[in-house]
Amino acid sequence: MELQNAFVNWFRNSSPYIHAHRNKTFVISFGGEAVLAEDFDHHVHDFALLSSLGIRLVLVHGIRPQIDQRLSRLNAPARFHHNLRITDDLALQCAKESAGLVRVEIEALLSMGLANSPMAGSGLKVASGNFVTAKPLGVIAGVDYCHTGEVRRIDSKAIQLQLEQKNVVLISPIGYSPTGEIFNLSAEQVATEIAIALKAEKLILLTEQSFQNPDNDQPVRQITTDEADLFLQNHPNIADVLALPLKAAIQSCQSGVNRVHLIDRTVDGALLLELFSHDGVGTLISSTPFEALRPATLSDIGGILELIKPLEQQGKLAKRSREKIEMEISDYVVLERDGLIIGCMALHSDEQAGFGAIACLAVHPDYQGSARGKRLFEHVHQKAKQLKLKKLFVLSTQTAHWFIEKGFQPSTIASLPESLKVLYNPERNSKVLCNIID
Ligand SMILES: CC(C)(COP(=O)(O)OP(=O)(O)OC[C@H]1O[C@@H](n2cnc3c(N)ncnc32)[C@H](O)[C@@H]1OP(=O)(O)O)[C@@H](O)C(=O)NCCC(=O)NCCS
Repeated sequence: MELQNAFVNWFRNSSPYIHAHRNKTFVISFGGEAVLAEDFDHHVHDFALLSSLGIRLVLVHGIRPQIDQRLSRLNAPARFHHNLRITDDLALQCAKESAGLVRVEIEALLSMGLANSPMAGSGLKVASGNFVTAKPLGVIAGVDYCHTGEVRRIDSKAIQLQLEQKNVVLISPIGYSPTGEIFNLSAEQVATEIAIALKAEKLILLTEQSFQNPDNDQPVRQITTDEADLFLQNHPNIADVLALPLKAAIQSCQSGVNRVHLIDRTVDGALLLELFSHDGVGTLISSTPFEALRPATLSDIGGILELIKPLEQQGKLAKRSREKIEMEISDYVVLERDGLIIGCMALHSDEQAGFGAIACLAVHPDYQGSARGKRLFEHVHQKAKQLKLKKLFVLSTQTAHWFIEKGFQPSTIASLPESLKVLYNPERNSKVLCNIID
């Protein structure tokens, strides 16, 4: 029974994330190491799950260890300069073989649908193609990179068409030039450029290790691009497995991708934990702060309803319909965190009569106790001051003391302005509180 309850709670708690992610475009990149790992099928199951939840998915795979293996079998050296492969003719041959093989293997895994397996009934369709145009990297500081290239253009229209048809788009780190040449590309660069070109909501880089701050050995859960830049400057010797994804993340954020997640692919289920639980397990990188308090818009109504419905059922908030919120949306402010509405509050004001009523204050249970309620209140209080309101009222069943600690005084129904008195619901029997604004 306990297990059942835990499952039901877990499933319910993940529903806001499911709604928030639906129809959004996520670009997920992973190295060739992930493909070689024994648990790679788990990742594929998770990709399939994301796609079936309505996420528009672009997968970009790497092939670095596969090329190295092939070169080593041929007793040829793997040559790198500044962590970029020098792709000579033999290495290009290995890159082509590796890309073909890895793509086919991933396609096969995504096509599985055995009964009693996580892929049963998924019916995924995978699209690959010549979506990436490349140009040679050329000769840099005297080093000829041969067939190593860089992205010149992404055919975002063609990728969007595939995504609209609900296909998963699978991209190899290989690009073609208009002259018909083939170039070996960095998977991170390809993923970054695709995320930018598609204006993806998220770029997710599955990394080989988690991002720990070497100064205190603590995991870094969130970092802004400015902080990440500073971190790289202060830690010039940080391992490439971390430095490369960090640089890719900074570049993507600066070019308009809202959120980049670095997720340690060696943690089982890390992708699902990061996307569908409130704290996540990876590192979230964005150019703006992760949480914003802002005026609500009509597109927030779904999120507001999601937040307040359970509180209405518990009797903590008065019931209000979608239509009522829609009509009064300009009275609302919301706290948004990574696309999710985690707090809201409304101020209904009568400026002529000089009073306002606070309503619909809510903070998601996972985020309570960290002064978010206080932040919403202070914002609304400031707004009331700007509107030159003299009095603020609130009707509360279970939160009276919270408001008293904010300077409200117990009051009476009789003292309510007429327009609020007619709305008073005796069945709820709320306490009336009033705050005089100086
Ligand atoms: C009331 C609410 C918005 C506070 O959000 P929050 O982000 O946790 O608020 P803060 O972090 O600023 O404040 C937390 C403090 O308020 C206290 N608090 C929380 N709920 C309270 C309540 N119902 N009565 C009295 N104090 C309360 C907490 O114990 C904490 O104090 P402490 O740190 O001294 O223990 C949140 O609990 C909520 O959404 N409640 C359900 C909806 C509700 O009751 N809305 C008000 C309708 S009038």
